[in-house]
Formats: sequence, C-alpha cells, structure tokens
Amino acid sequence: MQTIVDRTSILKQPPFTLALAEELLATYGSPLYVYQSDILRGTIARITNAISYPQTQFCFASVTNGNIALLQIFQACGWGLHANTPGDIYLGIKAGFAPKKIVYSGSNLHQSEMEQVLRWGVKTLNLDSLSQLQLCCEVYQTLRENQQILAPPRLGLRLNLPELTGDSRIGVRSTEFPDAISIAKTAGLKLSGLHFYRGTGTNSTAAFTQVIDTVIATAQQLPDWEYLDFGGGFGYPYRGGTAFDWELFGAELTNRINRLYRPIDLIVEPGRSAVAGCATLLARVVSTKWQEAKQIVGVDTTVANLSVPSVHGGYREICTWNCQDSLHVTDVCGNTTYSRDYLGKNCQLPALRVGEVLGILDVGAYGYAMSSHFLHRPRPAEVLLENSHHRLIRRREDYRVLLANQVF
Ligand SMILES: Cc1ncc(COP(=O)(O)O)c(C=O)c1O
Repeated sequence: MQTIVDRTSILKQPPFTLALAEELLATYGSPLYVYQSDILRGTIARITNAISYPQTQFCFASVTNGNIALLQIFQACGWGLHANTPGDIYLGIKAGFAPKKIVYSGSNLHQSEMEQVLRWGVKTLNLDSLSQLQLCCEVYQTLRENQQILAPPRLGLRLNLPELTGDSRIGVRSTEFPDAISIAKTAGLKLSGLHFYRGTGTNSTAAFTQVIDTVIATAQQLPDWEYLDFGGGFGYPYRGGTAFDWELFGAELTNRINRLYRPIDLIVEPGRSAVAGCATLLARVVSTKWQEAKQIVGVDTTVANLSVPSVHGGYREICTWNCQDSLHVTDVCGNTTYSRDYLGKNCQLPALRVGEVLGILDVGAYGYAMSSHFLHRPRPAEVLLENSHHRLIRRREDYRVLLANQVF
C-alpha cells in the first residue's frame, strides 16, 4: 500500500471545523454547497482595491453563480452585474441591481429577447456581431417611436482580434468598425465602448497586461469611444496553481488609462476569480474499497452536482477532517455508474470510513451554476455562512423536479 507521511504539505486545511460541517449536514442534508460570506467579501474587497482608477465599475459575471443571496453581496459591495444572457439580467434585477449597473455582453439574442433587455432598461450592451447590433438598433428605434423606452442604451462592441482573442467565435473585427458605426448612427445612437475578453481561467497576469496597449489602440479607432470593458477570464489558483496578480494588473491598467488624453469609464467583469474560493461542496463517504494500493471512495454527490471536472477537466482540491498521517492514492467517485463520475482522481487521502465527511473546495464558480439533472439526481441545497450563523439560500431538490414540465 503506497503511503505518504507528510500530510501537511499535501492536504489543504478544511475551511471550517468538523463540528460545523456535521451541524450543517444534520440541518440541511448532504451533499451541500456551503458559501462563506467572509471569504467572498474579502475577495471582493481585494479585487476592488487592486484597481485604483477612479472611473472603474466592477461587474460580477453571474454566469459563474446566480444565487440571489450571493448576488446581493456583490450588489451591496457596490459592484454591478455582467450578464451573459437575459436570464442573468432577470436574476440580477431580482437581486436588486439597478438596470443602469447591468452590462449585457452576450450573444445571439432573438428579437423578443433584445426587446426584453432594452425594456428592462439595461444601460450598457456590448454586441457580438453587426447583425446583433443591427437588431438592437432596430428594436431600440421601435421602442423609442412607441415611447416604450426612455434613455438610449450605451453601445459597445465585443472585440475579435485573432492575435489576442485566438480562434474565437466571439466578437467583431476592427475592420467592421466603420459599418458598425454607421448602423448605430442610423438609429441615432453612437458606438462608445469596446469589450475585450481574454478567455476563461487565464492565470497568467502577463496575458492581460501585455495586451492593454493593443486593446486601447483598437478602442481609439472608435471616434466616440467612452468606455473600455476589460472583461473577465481572470484565473483562480485551484490546487495551489499560479494566482492571478490583481495588484499588478490594476497598477498597469490604471497607468495606461491615465495616460489617455481624456478619461474613459472602465468596466471589469470578474467571474471565477471573485467567487470560486468562497464555497465548499460537503459530501459524505458512502462506500470504500481497495484496488491493490488504490483507495476507491464513493461519495453521495456526483459530477452532475459539480460538472466542472467532467466538462472542463481539472479536479478541485478535496479536504478531509480525518487526521491520520498515512495517505493513499485515492479516487473519489460519484454516486452513479457514469464512467466519468469522478470528483477527484489520484488524490492523496487517508484511509476513509463510511460516514466521514469530505469537502470539495473552491466550487463557488461554475459549480451549482453548471449542475444539471443528468443522471437524474436532484440538486443539492445551498447554505450561506455569515457572522457565525448559517442560512439556507437554495432548497434541496427532490424527485419531483425530475417530473417538472414532463407531459404524460
Ligand atoms: C464577457 C464575459 N465576461 C466575464 C465572464 C466571466 O468569466 P470568468 O469566470 O472566466 O471571469 C464571461 C464568461 O463567460 C464572459 O463571457
């Protein structure tokens, strides 16, 4: 049996006590998403303070997590909301974000959806193609003629610059700017923004700082340029990987923008980097077995509750409250026979017993948000820990959810 003794250098500490973990599971059941508001608020403060440029509006990318209680924390901290879809906007408004603090930077809306976004009063829209820009302008004109909309929206373009954005389907080439400007002008609108998105989970700070000048130079091709949306994509140091350096990024971005001959508005849309680290998925061990030296542990959750590993690869770190020194190569498997139902592969964990609690760490981003009913397991509950209290922020589903909307 392979044994490693120095567990402190290998295993991450649990984020709270076993007594609290047991209390939470006894109160709300297992598996359970647990969010820690102190960690979330600390991260929000750190990111906010890292960019000193005064005209900065942070907008949380709720594609990563749409829980209203968490959105309300971002809102109370002065952040706006980045919406990928009309559903993001709907949740954002329910959470209390003023429409003027919502930035829509999505793709491929049909007409009624575009109409809905404008009727909601979303102030800033970054469009992904000339045809979406055309649609937005036409819908705006109709609403204005019918006096169904008061203020004109602030329009920008998502940038597609192959040398920066790679082989991406998103965005508009700078050669299309003249046509875009004239589409907006026809509707009595101007194109005042440029939106740049680096691609999700980019841990290298240089990957952002090295492109600032090019992005700004491209934005300056828009005669009415007023704002720069520097997107999201900022990485998170899962499993002790490289951490994105917010302070360095903030200093460089501020420095470059300060050199412009007139001030612009800056929007930054962190998603994963803001919310990943505040959550743990608690699960109980329900089965153990050994295959030679390898420990196979079955838990009462599944990749359908936490899809990231099966969709994107990259398992999250798993912590235990079991204090044994001997660690063993362990696969942590979900409660289905789906061949990819692993929550962790080749982890180093002590010999576990049925009934023990494990914590899957850093699951705040793309965790619950990407969970599904695949494998027909209802979704877990979500709980918020705040000032040493805990409260339910989303109920656990039961089997009735599997019948919802079925007609038979
Ligand atoms: C335009 C935009 N901004 C921000 C985000 C959030 O990305 P991340 O979680 O990588 O920061 C996304 C994710 O899809 C996005 O499309």
